[in-house]
Amino acid sequence: MEVKQVKLIYFSATGTTQKVLESIAKGITGKDVEHINLTLPEGTRQTIPPFSDELVIIGAPVYGGRLPVDALNRFKQLKANKTLAVLIVVYGNRDFEDALLELKNLAIEIGFNPVAGGAFIGEHSFATKDVPIANGRPDSLDVQKAMDFGAKIKDKITVLQSPDAQMDLKIPGRFPYEADGARSMAVSPVTNEDTCSICGTCASVCPNAAISINGSVATKIELCIRCCACIKNCPTGARVWEDDMMKTIINWLNENCSTRKEPQIFGINV
Ligand SMILES: Cc1cc2nc3c(=O)[nH]c(=O)nc-3n(C[C@H](O)[C@H](O)[C@H](O)COP(=O)(O)O)c2cc1C
Repeated sequence: MEVKQVKLIYFSATGTTQKVLESIAKGITGKDVEHINLTLPEGTRQTIPPFSDELVIIGAPVYGGRLPVDALNRFKQLKANKTLAVLIVVYGNRDFEDALLELKNLAIEIGFNPVAGGAFIGEHSFATKDVPIANGRPDSLDVQKAMDFGAKIKDKITVLQSPDAQMDLKIPGRFPYEADGARSMAVSPVTNEDTCSICGTCASVCPNAAISINGSVATKIELCIRCCACIKNCPTGARVWEDDMMKTIINWLNENCSTRKEPQIFGINV
């Protein structure tokens, strides 16, 4: 089979998942790829026709060893008809636990035929310059591994007779899932009014429309998913965590998850 077109579908609040998917796609095709970005609320309002004979790469970050609930709900709206899919989770150098298995099960439920999977590492959403956790990842080594993975996916598909070929992709994880997912903590980053320029960037990058601007920045705590898009995109560094529990978690991750992990790939002979 020939890969005629590659489409990327993703939820990626701080951009690491998107970068990994783009790198894999580069290894598969030199042609333009289509992006279906389901990160922002407006992304979910687009009409997405059912998938058929293209190759789709679906990616999401790992939140608490599972898929983010918003990613799961947005992916559930998609429909496919035995479309070949590459499944990717990106995690912050702690662990991906049941997230990739959850993505595989979901992909099959909505009609995809998973051809390969991968767990890559991205800078942890909670990391800062002062408290690093996998900072700068995916880095050039990760990008190279993602491109090599893409090239091997292309080789695997080239020898397939049809898109509904039996794949039997083995993915690590436990079912019923044992990881809890992102716990609801009823906390959100806060805005330092001395440095905030009220530019509205934080509101424009929030996947859950939790932030509004009306002379100052207001955050609906109950909508915050702790993705940290507002913190990482604030041009003046005015969005920060002040919550003590979050600071404890971030310091724990910094102390316990500093040994570099490497991407793992599944469904491809290395
Ligand atoms: C609420 C929350 C929970 C997270 N849970 C995990 C986790 O269980 N394991 C891990 O290694 N990283 C975890 N992370 C880090 C993200 O998976 C990681 O930073 C990823 O690269 C973010 O992807 P994105 O840039 O596409 O948003 C978590 C991040 C958030 C915001």
